[in-house]
Amino acid sequence: MQKTLAIIKPDAVQRRLIGKIISKFEEKGLEIIGLKMTVISEGLARKNYSIHEGKDYFEKLVKFMASGPVVILVLRGENAIEVTRRLMGSTSGHEAAPGTIRGDYALSGRFNLIHGSDSVESAKREISLFFDDTSIMEYEKSDLKWIYDMSGENLV
Ligand code: TYD
Ligand code: MG
Repeated sequence: MQKTLAIIKPDAVQRRLIGKIISKFEEKGLEIIGLKMTVISEGLARKNYSIHEGKDYFEKLVKFMASGPVVILVLRGENAIEVTRRLMGSTSGHEAAPGTIRGDYALSGRFNLIHGSDSVESAKREISLFFDDTSIMEYEKSDLKWIYDMSGENLV
């Protein structure tokens, strides 16, 4: 199963949306296998968003990400990267579809509440920026057989 990194951004923490956002992921069936609250340094924010370096919004994005506490999650599940991105909604809050995190709770294009890795490579890279192997809990959840049909060779 795939793993992905999600960051509940400083705006979401300040707006008391941690619980609502985590609930979306949990209710979907994704497993939380890593979780921490921290303040990201500007250096780490730069690394996480390194592909955006040179863009006109880069410095503001870095300052925003380092401006207060965030909650960082590692999520696991079938197609977790795309599932998480769909639950987040498109980048600008004012364009994101209702029912998504950004669509329901954001209007801004920058203060958009949540980050999610966008590929297998970036998920791997981003998870390793924030978690070492010992703080990822690869436990077996007892309800998995009700989230997926696990009777065959493939998850359905
Ligand atoms: P991006 O990876 O394009 O969006 P997403 O978060 O949906 O993967 O951009 C990363 C973050 O950069 C985005 O969440 C908000 C910020 N950003 C701006 O501040 N201004 C912009 O014009 C863009 C494209 C992004
Ligand atoms: Mg992105």
